[in-house]
Amino acid sequence: MKTVLVGISGGIAAYKAAQLVSDLSKIDDIHVEVLMSKNACEFITPLTLQTLSHNRVTVDSFDTNYAYDVHHISQAKKADLFIIAPASADVIAKVAHGIADDALTTTFLACNCPKLIAPAMNTGMLENPITQNNLKTCRAYGMTILDAQSGYLACGDSGKGRLAEVSVLKQAVLHHLYKDDTLSGKKVLIDAGPTQEAIDPVRYISNHSSGKMGVSLARSFARKGAHVTLVIGPNHLEMPYGVNVVDVISAKDMYETMMEYGPTNDIIVCCAAVADYTPKNVVDHKIKKQGGGLTIECKRTQDILQSLGENKKEHQLLIGFAMETDDMENYAKSKCIKKHCDYVVGNTIVQGESGFATDTNRIIITDGSTIEGPWFGSKDEMAEIIVKKVVESCY
Ligand SMILES: Cc1cc2nc3c(=O)[nH]c(=O)nc-3n(C[C@H](O)[C@H](O)[C@H](O)COP(=O)(O)O)c2cc1C
Repeated sequence: MKTVLVGISGGIAAYKAAQLVSDLSKIDDIHVEVLMSKNACEFITPLTLQTLSHNRVTVDSFDTNYAYDVHHISQAKKADLFIIAPASADVIAKVAHGIADDALTTTFLACNCPKLIAPAMNTGMLENPITQNNLKTCRAYGMTILDAQSGYLACGDSGKGRLAEVSVLKQAVLHHLYKDDTLSGKKVLIDAGPTQEAIDPVRYISNHSSGKMGVSLARSFARKGAHVTLVIGPNHLEMPYGVNVVDVISAKDMYETMMEYGPTNDIIVCCAAVADYTPKNVVDHKIKKQGGGLTIECKRTQDILQSLGENKKEHQLLIGFAMETDDMENYAKSKCIKKHCDYVVGNTIVQGESGFATDTNRIIITDGSTIEGPWFGSKDEMAEIIVKKVVESCY
């Protein structure tokens, strides 16, 4: 069981911390305790946070209604991660300089676990060089700053200062809580999702790929400490925390991006559903409906996996994906050999269970001769199996 301390300071975004605490508390392996500054209690009540976290909320350092121990020290010792969200300009200034004048800041100072700070304030306060210097100081002490976003602010202004989305805060907590250094120093390149091949300015050819498998893989590799670049086609997914995301549209874009990044990466995983064919000519105006049919002449796209395989460097590990409707194992084996891959992950399309746009997948892994698996589970679980295989191959 991991203990996450959530510190809430006095800003209008304090109400968003309730969602964060609720989301984290629903995760079986996580125990959440909340600390609030006195001013935070002007914005949201401890009762709300106590109910959502299922734990008593700490506000007052000198509250003697606790078990006989020095509460901030015992709480600091058991913490696996401390996040302050929202972090006011005031609390940032305090933690940057070791000021410990309430329960939140005293416990924060006593902790030696990973510390995350999510600033939220008016643009003027955020851009003030004093706040910027304080954030710099926090970074220099090893704290992670979860940058504020631009948008409409509660004070009526528009600009930078909005608390990062709660889903991003949650992902950041999970990333830092479960991260290890197994693949530290390794660079991982992943392609994922569909591509869109333009027919005219309003129409395109594409496929049902959602990009979910690639996102799960990117997240798993990042949690192993790797530097991850995810090259992804059009999608509706939340991007994984701590990953360099490169958005592409067409098979040509994806090919060029993968060729550009490929040589400098150690581990390359190709799980994108790249279009095999693209219209020979893109019409520059909308094709009008007319009687009879419409024939679109297509040409082959460039094969990303084949090119990466042919140019594979000594230090590189190349993994392809094979999505088949039948005879998947034999196809995956021959693909592995033909495309010079170290492994090919085979997955079949089973409506609602495996393949495109599902949350689960059924996979095998082949090195061209042997077959491991099958495994079935969530795409996150399948990603972990693939990452484990990579780790075994690297060391
Ligand atoms: C209505 C209102 C909204 C405020 N919103 C913010 C905010 O979003 N960010 C911030 O840094 N300070 C904000 N402040 C100012 C802080 O509440 C003030 O600096 C306070 O001292 C912070 O206390 P704490 O850091 O101990 O929680 C706001 C104040 C008021 C009255």
